[in-house]
This record gives sequence, C-alpha cells and structure tokens, in this order.
Amino acid sequence: MSFVFGSPTEVVEGNATVYTPDPRLYTDPRGRPAPWLSPVFYNPQGAVTRDVSVALASTLGGGVRMLDAMAGVGVRGLRCVLEAHVSHATLNDVNPDAAALACLAASRNGVSHLVDVQSMGCNALCALSDYGRGYDVVDIDPFGSAAPFISNGVIATANQGILGVCSTDGANLCGNRPQALTRLYAAVNRAPYARKEVGLRILAANLVLKASTLGCAVTPVACYCYHTYFRVHVRVVRSPRKASSQLSNIGYVPGCLHRDGDGDGNGNGDGYGYMREPSCRKCGEPASAGPVYTGPLGERETLEAALKKLGAVNSATAYASRRLVETLASENGVVSLYLDIHEASKKAGVGAPPLRSVLDSLADQGYAAYPTHFSPTSVKTDAPPEVFEATVGRLGSR
Ligand SMILES: C[S@@+](CC[C@H](N)C(=O)[O-])C[C@H]1O[C@@H](n2cnc3c(N)ncnc32)[C@H](O)[C@@H]1O
Ligand SMILES: [Zn+2]
Repeated sequence: MSFVFGSPTEVVEGNATVYTPDPRLYTDPRGRPAPWLSPVFYNPQGAVTRDVSVALASTLGGGVRMLDAMAGVGVRGLRCVLEAHVSHATLNDVNPDAAALACLAASRNGVSHLVDVQSMGCNALCALSDYGRGYDVVDIDPFGSAAPFISNGVIATANQGILGVCSTDGANLCGNRPQALTRLYAAVNRAPYARKEVGLRILAANLVLKASTLGCAVTPVACYCYHTYFRVHVRVVRSPRKASSQLSNIGYVPGCLHRDGDGDGNGNGDGYGYMREPSCRKCGEPASAGPVYTGPLGERETLEAALKKLGAVNSATAYASRRLVETLASENGVVSLYLDIHEASKKAGVGAPPLRSVLDSLADQGYAAYPTHFSPTSVKTDAPPEVFEATVGRLGSR
C-alpha cells in the first residue's frame, strides 16, 4: 500500500510488527528523531508505557475487550492482543492515515479477526458506550492534555475495567503554566516541593472528580511519570455509593507547616499528609496545591501481578519497565509526597549523602522509606520533613 508519505517502514516492538512513516524523514533541526512531525505518530520512547499497558491488561485474565481510543499506528492495542490475551481490540484514530496503518499492521500480525479499526473523534466513539457495557480496557493517549477526554473515557470503561489516561502536559500539571492548569484541571500547583508527584496526583484527582459525576468510583492501580508521560491507570467501578466514598481521598497540599497530629486536625491523620480543606484551620494559610488524590497511587496486588507478567514480556525495554513497576510497587504504601536529598542537603549546608544511607537511617528510626520512581535523589517516607532534613544534615559531608 502506498501513502502520500511514501511506503511505510516496518518496526518491531514486543511481539508486534507495525508500520510507520519512514522515521528518518522526520527530524528536528539538530537531526534528532521528531515523531511529532511525522504524518502518523509512533514514538519508540513510549515502549515502556506500552509494556506497562500490556502487563496491566494481562491482570484482567482472558476474554478482555479493549478500546485503544487514540491508537496512532496501533501498537499499544495490537501488543495487548498479541501479548496479553486481549480477545478483541478496537483501534481508533481520528487521522485516517493512522487508521490505515493500524489496519495494515493488524493483518501483518495475523489478528485482523480480533481487531476492528475506526477513524473518528475519541470523545464521540467513547460516548457510544453511554448506557452500554463498555470496554474492559480503555486507553486515552492524546497529544498534550488528556483533560478533554477523561469523562468519556470513564463512560467507555466497563464495570471493573481499567482506564489508562496519559497527559504529556507536564508543564501545566507541575504548575509552570498556572492558567492552563486551572483551565484544564481546575487545580493549582504551587507546592514547595515534589511538584511532579503533585502534578500526577492532580491528574488522578481529576479522574476521581469527573468519574464521580458519572456515578463511577475510580481507584488508581498504577500511576507514574516516565519521561514526558504522566500516566494514570484506574479501575472503574460503576457505583455512586463508592464514588461518594472515594471523594474522601481528595485533598490539598498544605502551604504552611501545620500538620494533623499537632493538635489542629488539619490533615488526614497520617501525621504528615494532606489537608481536607483548601486553607489551614489553624493559621488560615491557603493550600499550596490541589485538589490532589491523597490515597495510594497504585494497587499493590495488581502491580505485583503486572511485574510477574513483565518477566515474560519480550521487548527491548522490558528490563526498564520491570525496574519501573518494581519501584512503583515498593513506594506504593507511602502517600506522603517525596522529599529530595539534594534540597535538604542545600538547606543543611552539607554535601548530599548517598540515597542508600538516608533510606537505611530513616528505616532505623522506625519510618517507612523507599526509593521513588519520580527522582533518583528523592525518598518516599512517612518521616516528617524535619526528621528527613535532620537525617540528611547528619549524614551529609562537610
Ligand atoms: C500520542 S499519539 C498516540 C500514540 C499511541 N497511543 C501509541 O502508543 O503509540 C496521539 C494520537 O491521537 C490522535 N488524535 C488526536 N486527537 C484525536 C481525537 N480527538 N480523537 C481521536 N484521535 C485523536 C492523533 O492522530 C495521534 O495519532
Ligand atoms: Zn497553618
């Protein structure tokens, strides 16, 4: 088949062979690959996110129906069919050339009978599931913010299904473009630290809030930042009662130092956490960020099952994907925002101590302390910030 961009190139990722426009033709002024300039989008850098999607889909068992609602060349949905026992996938992309390449790839991989290809707007296609059963796995993967597609993504997801949503507008979510953040997510992010985690939690909160208006409870099963991708995968349960109780996990990041546990009842009872109200009950200081999702960003059993699956995934990025999911599983229990060793070292006027020594010392003091996927120099811990800072100050070099 020939296209206006010439003959497509074959690319292998995992067990799938897909077709893309020749990537050598689409580069930035310095000659580096620029997939966003290609007439049909395929970015090899996203392979880790697709490994994770395959692993999460496989946790649902057999007979799974998937909607890859912004499929590009179709690689995510096709890999789920070929590697995760997904029994039927709808691959959709508003770009007709993308749909044509996805169709070609389905045939090349011998799964045309398990795949149907559509070319329409994501919101319109998802909304067709209104009052219908929906799909067990839905993936929403636009250019930039996913905010305009979230409500319909929820509508398209079956009861107990998994909805994956990807936003690549990190500058908005991390608070560098405050107006855009408020317009898209009705949120602010002026958090004094852990801006990346706060951004991811704002995206998760946005899903919870939008789903609740539809009578659905969503609970994170795996959320992470990887390169420019902010990815939130949630389980959708069609239950207005559960949707209401999930709202107790929406809160704010304090802008002051008052915490629950110091007598003012500001937070959620973990001693170092989030506020229930947008300003401090004790001093009136407005929250620095929110609304955020304050619960765990993953589901331990699902992450562990996904990790097991990743052991068998046959892609060039499987090792990196396993490392990512391993870290997500271990840091999952700590809901407090990550704290950074370099920032604390600067404050204490010492050279940064090694991550391992900080983790060991916090554990010796009786706190949970784990490395975090958000940053190689940061720690997820339930230790109060002043304990963390004192620990770094003690261990740092002078
Ligand atoms: C980031 S790419 C998707 C990449 C793909 N999911 C993957 O894993 O390789 C975004 C895709 O969304 C498509 N798109 C943009 N707006 C859309 C809309 N409103 N409805 C459906 N597709 C849309 C674009 O044509 C593009 O192919
Ligand atoms: Zn206060």
